[in-house]
Amino acid sequence: MLIRDVRIEGAEPADIRVEDGVFAEVGSLEPKEGEEIVDGGGRLVLPPFVEPHVHLDTCLTAGDPEWNQSGTLFEGIERWAQRKESLSVEDVKARAGKAIRQQVAFGAQAVRSHVDVTDPNLIALRALVELREELADYVTLQLVAFPQEGIESFPNGRALMEKAADLGVDCIGAIPHFEFTREYSVSSLDFACHLAAERGLLMDVHCDEIDDPESHGLETLAARAYELGLGEKVTASHTTAMGSYNAAYFTRLLRLLKLAKINFVANPLVNIHLQGRIDTYPKRRGVTRVKELVEAGLNVSFGYDDIFDPWNPLGTGNQRDVVYAGLYITQMMGYQQICDSYRFITHNPARALGITDSYGIEVGKPANFIILDAETWYDALNWSAPVIGNYRAGKLIAATAPVEREVFF
Ligand code: FE2
Repeated sequence: MLIRDVRIEGAEPADIRVEDGVFAEVGSLEPKEGEEIVDGGGRLVLPPFVEPHVHLDTCLTAGDPEWNQSGTLFEGIERWAQRKESLSVEDVKARAGKAIRQQVAFGAQAVRSHVDVTDPNLIALRALVELREELADYVTLQLVAFPQEGIESFPNGRALMEKAADLGVDCIGAIPHFEFTREYSVSSLDFACHLAAERGLLMDVHCDEIDDPESHGLETLAARAYELGLGEKVTASHTTAMGSYNAAYFTRLLRLLKLAKINFVANPLVNIHLQGRIDTYPKRRGVTRVKELVEAGLNVSFGYDDIFDPWNPLGTGNQRDVVYAGLYITQMMGYQQICDSYRFITHNPARALGITDSYGIEVGKPANFIILDAETWYDALNWSAPVIGNYRAGKLIAATAPVEREVFF
């Protein structure tokens, strides 16, 4: 297959040849006899989007059985407790499967989902393990053992984490800011880091998702990651307390973060909505320090977090929306920052997920790519350009027709 006249990551127009599911050639190419030709029309081609942080077990449940009327995190937990009663393997698979198809339609091919494992029956995890297998030809799904109600603070929390590891999660999670005490917070991270190291798994921790400037889970996570040599296998998600840390502490912390080389995932859409709720005024923004982390050379990605569930009553899974809002929220609206922002949902999360060996538009790699209906990322972002083709191993797995607008005056 020859894809003609496309701008790979915004570069000058070129052609791409795909053979046997891999990128065979990139450059100015002539069609071979009988070769299938796709006319790119000068459009933008990117490696597929990578969703680094979503909760597929709770997705698509907003309003079922009741709506979150206050919009708060706490009422979200109450509404979820109601919905959780009717959880079944079929229910989780149906909802998560639908959400994944939406994500793929919007350009994703890899998704990391947190799965609540503070459930003695691990229903959601069993469902998502099955789905990971069933959809493997279309999407790379990574699952995180996410202890929503704590490791040390939930009955048999440690045993459930180990059971989740036995069932085949890709990543070990933790939730240090939710544990009963500071001591539990530290010991839960010790436990999680050692479990990940022993099992050779990745880590992704819900870390300091709170406006409390005294929430210091991140320093423990980074120190253990550094000491155990886990570094790039570890992701700290949310880290919203960092938005409340004082400058002296943040400066000290940054040295450790650079040594540890851990990854970060900010969830600007959901955190701007859920954090800062207990403040009167001035009201904090409740988002981690994306600009400062990026400037320090750390790997930062943007996640959707919640898709139409008790904590986010809106949302389709379209990652473009997170970048669009995220640039406003993190005040990263400089021209070059906007041009580079596709990296928050492509190369950066690919690194966090540890999939870079098979990721990117390079000869010899799997022919995974998307074609957007715009010439540049700047325009694609601004106009919410649809992904007109999502190709995996050279095969079209999702398509959206270009939008045509007509004005009658
Ligand atoms: Fe989350």
